[in-house]
Parts: sequence; C-alpha cells; structure tokens
Amino acid sequence: MRLRFAVLGLMFLSGTAYAQCVEVTPAQYAGTPWTHSLTKTHTLSDIAFFKIRDPSGQHVCTSDPISDLSFLTYLSLNSTRGILPNNAIKRLVIVISGANSDAWAYHKDVIDALQAMNDPEINTDSVAILSPYFPNDRQAGTGFPYNPDGATPDAKYPSPALVWYSTEWSGGANNQYPPRLKTVSAYDALDQIVQHYGNRSIFPNMKHIVVSGHSMGAQMLHRYAAVGKTRAQLGVQVPISYYIANPSSMQWFGSDRPLSTGKCSSTYNNWREGLDNYSSYGSAHSGNLTYNSMLLALGPAAVLANYRGKTVAHGRGTQDRGDYSEGSCAPYTTGTDRHERFFAFLERFPPVCLVPTGEDCHTVDFVVTTHNNRAMFTSPSGNARLFRDNFNGDGSRAPDFGYPRHSNFDDPYPNGAQAGQPLVDTDTRSYAGGKTHRGCYTDIDNAQSVPSLPVLAYTGNSNTRTYCANLCTQQGYSIAGAKRNQCYCGNTLGSQTKRVVTSSCETKCPGDSSFCGNANRLSILSSVNL
Ligand SMILES: *[C@@H]1O[C@H](CO)[C@@H](O)[C@H](O)[C@H]1NC(C)=O
Ligand SMILES: *[C@@H]1O[C@H](CO)[C@@H](O)[C@H](O)[C@H]1NC(C)=O
Ligand SMILES: *[C@@H]1O[C@H](CO)[C@@H](O)[C@H](O)[C@H]1NC(C)=O
Ligand SMILES: *[C@@H]1O[C@H](CO)[C@@H](O)[C@H](O)[C@H]1NC(C)=O
Repeated sequence: MRLRFAVLGLMFLSGTAYAQCVEVTPAQYAGTPWTHSLTKTHTLSDIAFFKIRDPSGQHVCTSDPISDLSFLTYLSLNSTRGILPNNAIKRLVIVISGANSDAWAYHKDVIDALQAMNDPEINTDSVAILSPYFPNDRQAGTGFPYNPDGATPDAKYPSPALVWYSTEWSGGANNQYPPRLKTVSAYDALDQIVQHYGNRSIFPNMKHIVVSGHSMGAQMLHRYAAVGKTRAQLGVQVPISYYIANPSSMQWFGSDRPLSTGKCSSTYNNWREGLDNYSSYGSAHSGNLTYNSMLLALGPAAVLANYRGKTVAHGRGTQDRGDYSEGSCAPYTTGTDRHERFFAFLERFPPVCLVPTGEDCHTVDFVVTTHNNRAMFTSPSGNARLFRDNFNGDGSRAPDFGYPRHSNFDDPYPNGAQAGQPLVDTDTRSYAGGKTHRGCYTDIDNAQSVPSLPVLAYTGNSNTRTYCANLCTQQGYSIAGAKRNQCYCGNTLGSQTKRVVTSSCETKCPGDSSFCGNANRLSILSSVNL
C-alpha cells in the first residue's frame, strides 16, 4: 500500500487538517481479513482476501477508516499445499458459484476436475483456481461480521466485507455493504481480480485466464461477457475466455423476443434480461449501477459487438431442462425452460467464428448431463475450456464438442470428424393427407390466449403422429398437432403461435416411439406451408 499526502484547496476551506490519502492497489492476500465461519471443502482450498479498490475513487482521499474493501475468495494451493509462487502460475481459472453463493463447493469441484485429468503439466502446480464469494444478507454473521445491536448501519456491518443484495451480484449490482460505500459493482470486483492476475509484471508466466460459471454463475458470466470491459479497457495482455455452463437465462440484445411479452410487457426488457433501465438495477439497496455505462449508452448493437469480441464458450447439458417456474416473467419471453432459452438465444444471436483460429471464436459444447456442474467441468469439453485451451499461450484450442448437434444454428465451427446423426427431430415421413413434420410450436402459454389449433380431436393412449395425422385428415383439416396424449386439428395456426427449437418437443407419444410435443408444445404435421 502506498501512502501519499494531498493538499487540496477544499481542506483549507473546510478547515480540516491535511487528509491522509490512501491509494489502493488491488491485490490477492492483501485484503483485510474478517471473521467468518465458512468452510473449506478441499484440502487444496485456501481462503484469501482480495483487496478491492473503490472504483468511484471516493475512499482514495477521505478520513473514512475504511481504507480498503475486501473480497473473500477461495484460492487453490499447490500439490504440496503451498501458495503457488507467482511465477509458477500459467493459468487462472475463476469459477463463479450458483445462486447459493457456495463458492467453497464450486472451488472443490473445479480442483477435483483439474486433478482428475492426471496431467503432468496441467495441474494444481501450474493452474490457480479462484472462486469468489458473493455473500448476501442471509449470510450475515456466518459469512461476514454482523452486529445486530449496532445503532447505525455502519455499526451493524462493521467490516470491509463486500456484500451484495440477494443474487444481484449476477447482474453486476453495486454492493449493499459496507453501508457507507455502495460503489462496487460485482463486475468491478471481477475486473480487479482479472487485472491483478493478468498483470505479467506480477505473474510473468501467466498465459490465459478463464472466467467460468454454472447456473446463476453462468447467468452472471453471460452478462459480464456482454457488458464487461474489453482487455484493452482493462489493460490486460493475457487472453481471457468465458466458459458459460447452463445458465437459466441469457442476456438479450434488443427489445424483440421470440415468445409473448404480454405478461410483463413493461418490464421484460429491463436489465438483467434486457438492456433497459440498467442504471437503476439494484438501486433499491445499492448505489446506481454505473459500471461501463458508456457502453450501455451506445445501445444494443454496441453491447452485442462487445460481447462478440469476447472468447465465449457455451457449455450445455443436453438433459438440463428445468427452471419452468413462471415466477419471474422475463425469461419466459425467450423460452419455457433453460433448454429452449438457450437455443432461442443462439438462433437470434448465432455464435460468431469469423476466423476459426481467432480469439473471438464462440463455441458450443454439449455434455450429456442434467443441471450438474461437476459433470460439466469433468467432461472432455469442460476440461478443454477450463484447462487445456491455449494452455501454453500458443492459441491452440479444441473445436466444438458434442455431436450430434441440436440445431443448425449452434454450429459455428463444425468438427466434421465428429459429425453424426443429428439429434434434432429428423422425421421425414409422409403422413395422411400429404402432411409432413414441420417442427415444434408453442400452444397456449405465457400470456398467449389464442390456441395454436382450435379443435381437440382426441385424448388418449393411442395418440401417435400417424394417429393424429389420420384423424385430422379424416375430419378435413390440413394441420395436425400432437401434444402428449392429445391430438389437435386446424387449418391455420393461432395468431400467437411461435416456432421453438425442435428438441423442445421431445415427449414420446403414448402410442409409439415418435415424438408428441411437450407441455404447451405441439409437434406439427401439416400439408400446407406455415
Ligand atoms: C508449492 O508452493 C511453495 C511456495 O508456497 C513452493 O515452495 C513449493 O515448491 C511449491 N510446490 C510445488 C510442487 O510446486
Ligand atoms: C502491474 O503491476 C505492477 C507491479 O505491481 C504495477 O506497477 C503496474 O501498474 C501494474 N500494471 C497494470 C496495468 O495494472
Ligand atoms: C425503463 O425503461 C423504459 C424504456 O427505456 C422507460 O420507458 C421506463 O420508464 C423505465 N422504467 C423504469 C422503472 O425506470
Ligand atoms: C439512480 O437512477 C435513477 C433512475 O435512473 C435516478 O432517478 C436517480 O436519481 C439515481 N440516483 C442517484 C443517486 O444517482
């Protein structure tokens, strides 16, 4: 820490003595420790306090005793349980926890994944793994000091611990505590970690930084990649990539949506789902969000370009359905579950890979698993993205993993060697009345009030695509829609009907092994173009 003394005209006016100004240099193990009862769940997990600079500069030159802000991180030790010497670190892998802020668990999972590779060079002696802890009020007294009898907010929260409201860290909100300094966006905190480890004066052999996250951590990361500062802005020379695994929703770069916005038409495009009202995000509990606000002011195209300039690797569990709860409306404007939202995003904002060896190439890897971060991290693609890609700084990296692909818009850089039978519904049969399969469509859901097909022709265990096509043809209809054990018929689709990713209609028909839609989803067979 460097001290300097400032002489400011203001001080003569106010009559105070020369104020002591503390210029904060963010650094690992330099943050003020605080009392907590958090656990370490891996023998190679250490708890390290990272010193954070107030990005607003407010406490650089004040008499406030908070001369630093402190961020608790889980940091890996080397194989002999020592702190990795700076010059031994070739790679930093940051892993962001899910909604429970259980950084210790994610830290263990990534160390386990690294150790399981059994690689003589890529191991805990050369790779540092850091999991930042984003606490919220529920962890007061366990995760950070809390004095319930304190007479003032400052007395209640007496430590320099950075704490965010609920899971608003995922949207980059400013901190809620310390109460008198609500100026640190969670993205600023990440930036400062990246700047520190990306500084080759400090880490001379650093080759690559990966920022990774699963679930809520992936939601944070998708937004951080979208609005986060570029390497040039951060002054970092080390390449940075983003491994985004199984987010429940994705950042949307514009006010359009693939599905109905009726249920939350005035709020669906607010930050974090969209880009509106960014600055007031979190302001009920924190300061206004100003992080990289100049980029936001340039509009959605600029934010999208910023995102596309990053090295983004999507990780997708093929069995990761879920997050159907309609409690939060905005995500439903892009899909009924994580799976649909992911493919809706890719369809609207296709992955970019202008130069396959280029730095800004976006990849899409599939892993056959559910919403399981360990399975994602230990998969071959998880290993590649977290640990292997560009390990020696020569730009080498694995192409996309996980064939067959799920849709034609998820393949920026196809690996022909792995091509196989596509997983998408490839039904090319001809059904009664010249009907053919046309894909997966919405039925009534999320504020859509018009049914997709007006006539319910059958409900029962004989339902199949063939059965439903026959029935609708017999009754004179050109379109048949199979939804589980129901068969709907009509001559046009409803005015609010939308096409969604084909694999969203993957429920087996009760009468055979063909696919009959899903909840609120119809497999459409038609003799007319839609
Ligand atoms: C682990 O780190 C310590 C320093 O903290 C160092 O002395 C030791 O050599 C390192 N062990 C290995 C195997 O790199
Ligand atoms: C890198 O670290 C050195 C040594 O601490 C420091 O002087 C320099 O300002 C840092 N560079 C950047 C870009 O932060
Ligand atoms: C959100 O943004 C929209 C358009 O950008 C604006 O009309 C609306 O007033 C804002 N709402 C709030 C709560 O700030
Ligand atoms: C925060 O933002 C809101 C809406 O954008 C604005 O009305 C308010 O004045 C801002 N507050 C501060 C402290 O800047």
